[in-house]
Amino acid sequence: MMKTIQLKTSAGISHIYTGESISNLPQYIKGRKVAIIADENIIKFYGEYFPSKTVIKVLQGEDSKHIDNASRIYEELLTANVDRTWFILGMGGGVTTDLAGFVASTYLRGLPFGFVSTSLLGQVDASIGGKNGVNLEGYKNIIGVIRQPEFVICDINTLKTLSPREFVMGWAEIIKCAAIMEKDLFDYLERFIEKGLELNEEVLDTVVYESAKSKAKVVEEDEFESGIRKLLNFGHTFAHGLEKLYKLPHGEAVSIGMVLACGVSVNLGLLSQQDADRVVTLLKRAGLAVSFKFDPLQLVLAMEKDKKRVGDKIQLILLEGIGKALIYPVPINQLNSFLNDLPQHR
Ligand SMILES: NC(=O)c1ccc[n+]([C@@H]2O[C@H](COP(=O)([O-])OP(=O)(O)OC[C@H]3O[C@@H](n4cnc5c(N)ncnc54)[C@H](O)[C@@H]3O)[C@@H](O)[C@H]2O)c1
Repeated sequence: MMKTIQLKTSAGISHIYTGESISNLPQYIKGRKVAIIADENIIKFYGEYFPSKTVIKVLQGEDSKHIDNASRIYEELLTANVDRTWFILGMGGGVTTDLAGFVASTYLRGLPFGFVSTSLLGQVDASIGGKNGVNLEGYKNIIGVIRQPEFVICDINTLKTLSPREFVMGWAEIIKCAAIMEKDLFDYLERFIEKGLELNEEVLDTVVYESAKSKAKVVEEDEFESGIRKLLNFGHTFAHGLEKLYKLPHGEAVSIGMVLACGVSVNLGLLSQQDADRVVTLLKRAGLAVSFKFDPLQLVLAMEKDKKRVGDKIQLILLEGIGKALIYPVPINQLNSFLNDLPQHR
């Protein structure tokens, strides 16, 4: 069922439509000339729904989110005579919407733009919040702007062509959202996650809407990440370290990161073992990894570099209960001994 989420920020108003169909795109374009920036897989699977013949292809993969690729797209827009009367439509997962949003925000000092978000991670996270960035020589999202898309269309039917691996990655972010601030969603997932993994439409509709609404609420409260938006980094400081050191896929790293953050929360007496077990069980049921043998010392060193160190402490996002997260400065020596004592390192 189609539902609308309104996201109001200083950068503008954005409407997120979940449960919408890609075939209704023309009504959002409102007769404007459109340049489409689309992921190659989306061109292949959904090209027939494109509301314009001006299509710029983005190859799949994180490498496409590079400043050089943005330059190439500016040139293609110039060649197609795209001027200030045009609208830019980004169609794809987070790589394409980040890139398209960045190009649209900078070309001719900014054109109006919208997204069709086609991956689960995109629908519940990446396409929402107005962060549009590109990478530069190994530094992720180092160049970017905060600017809201006019609309984000989430059609759950597009998730059917997503690879099982990419689909599962999206579930890591859904579980994260539920664990840090949406207890009801967490309870719902505990009841229905298998159905969602089998692409049950009612469950997908619910989890995409609830997760997108939750992210929109956080962004509205804290557009520039000075407070509550930081909670979205639950599991991510560990994850960035694991991704850097071991090239783990992002979703797997986030899942393992959340398990570690739960462990630290229990270790510090903030979270009950029972609640930590609930998070781990749900991640396992989603088919995500929950443990990994890593070098504790290297991981802490990598985490210290992740701009989260304050004196002899690292700021982590921890849990006090299901649906309740907090920012907590954890002493580095305590973190070291916790990681060294993990069963996989004994
Ligand atoms: N802007 C933000 O706030 C924000 C937040 C989180 C993540 N991100 C960014 O999002 C990116 C990851 O997004 P992602 O996981 O969507 O990756 P992605 O865009 O690379 O998509 C994953 C894969 O799925 C394919 N795909 C996408 N939709 C499909 C569909 N419907 N059918 C078939 N194949 C499809 C793509 O071709 C790609 O191979 C990262 O670059 C990350 O930095 C941004």
